[in-house]
Amino acid sequence: MESLPDVKERKVEGKHDEPLLRVENLKKYFPVKSGFIFERTVGYVKAVDGVSFEIRRGETYGLVGESGCGKTTVGKTILRLYDPTEGDIILDGVNIAKLSEKELLPYRTKMQIVFQDPVSSLNPRMTIGNMLSEPLLFHGIAKNKSEARKIIAKLLEEVGLKAYHVDRYPHQFSGGQRQRIAIARAISVNPSLIILDEPTSALDVSVQAQIIKLLRKIQDEINAAYIFISHNLALVRFISDRVGIMYLGRIIEEGNADEIFENPLHPYSKLLLESVPIPDPKRKRKRKMDDTGVPSPMSRPNGCFFHTRCKYRMRICEIEYPEMVDFGNGHKVACHLFGR
Ligand SMILES: Nc1ncnc2c1ncn2[C@@H]1O[C@H](COP(=O)(O)OP(=O)(O)O)[C@@H](O)[C@H]1O
Ligand SMILES: [Mg+2]
Repeated sequence: MESLPDVKERKVEGKHDEPLLRVENLKKYFPVKSGFIFERTVGYVKAVDGVSFEIRRGETYGLVGESGCGKTTVGKTILRLYDPTEGDIILDGVNIAKLSEKELLPYRTKMQIVFQDPVSSLNPRMTIGNMLSEPLLFHGIAKNKSEARKIIAKLLEEVGLKAYHVDRYPHQFSGGQRQRIAIARAISVNPSLIILDEPTSALDVSVQAQIIKLLRKIQDEINAAYIFISHNLALVRFISDRVGIMYLGRIIEEGNADEIFENPLHPYSKLLLESVPIPDPKRKRKRKMDDTGVPSPMSRPNGCFFHTRCKYRMRICEIEYPEMVDFGNGHKVACHLFGR
């Protein structure tokens, strides 16, 4: 990671005052069915349950939290790969939360996603050239195949691959190269928002650094906003301008990346960030994250969802969900310790 330029020097260009994306009270519940012949809904997994945040153009928003807290579901619901149960998704001033598939079409190019596993996200039976030309032709970015070929050659170069790679199949590439292809596909339609869902988790550390470098370069060039989902907290701190910490379907703390990592306020954030591995072997990790007793999103506790694991819990924590308190400077926390 030493070879990478300092992310904090980068300024976020606010050409417009209006954020690129404003998510308000977003909810996604998955029904839980039971019964053999006559299925009925016996409950809901409240995967996302009232998430609000905004992102400006060219900004990177890191989304962190334990596995199963709803990060991927937030991403997929914003992209309208899932229909939201409730809430607003305001992209460039337009609420896309309730648009029909047809109405959504012009917005599909504005938002793209890169998943963790490029093996399953790339069609094994398609050449890279055909795979990359599909969205170009479908969205009318290229008028014909030869125009698509020209654009693809530029895209491949942009992500550090070669023009002659077009005739190859995904299995002929390494993991890092496949992720470069997935990134090329995402940027081919000139999106203003890219959701990166654990984009480097399947890669070796050295390859990871190259991909991060590539993502930074691309962001500087196309000024896209990134939602960066990862459980690698050091990486999240490195790449993010702001960070949101999720617990059981809600954001419980949010702020500038440095502020969050240096001064986490929520007891859950403290626990999560303390469990980041410390590179210096002489220094012992203070505490390891204990994920026993994590409540399920199907049957969450009353009051603050975290109170069952919280060593600071008070009476009110068992009764009332805490309101988000803003400390100014964008640092917000939902915890009764900081209630008004
Ligand atoms: N398609 C789905 N159907 C039912 N439950 C789901 C579905 N996708 C995710 N979930 C559940 O929603 C919760 C959040 O999942 P997810 O968004 O994948 O979390 P994360 O990405 O933070 O690990 C989990 O309890 C998961 O089991
Ligand atoms: Mg996930």
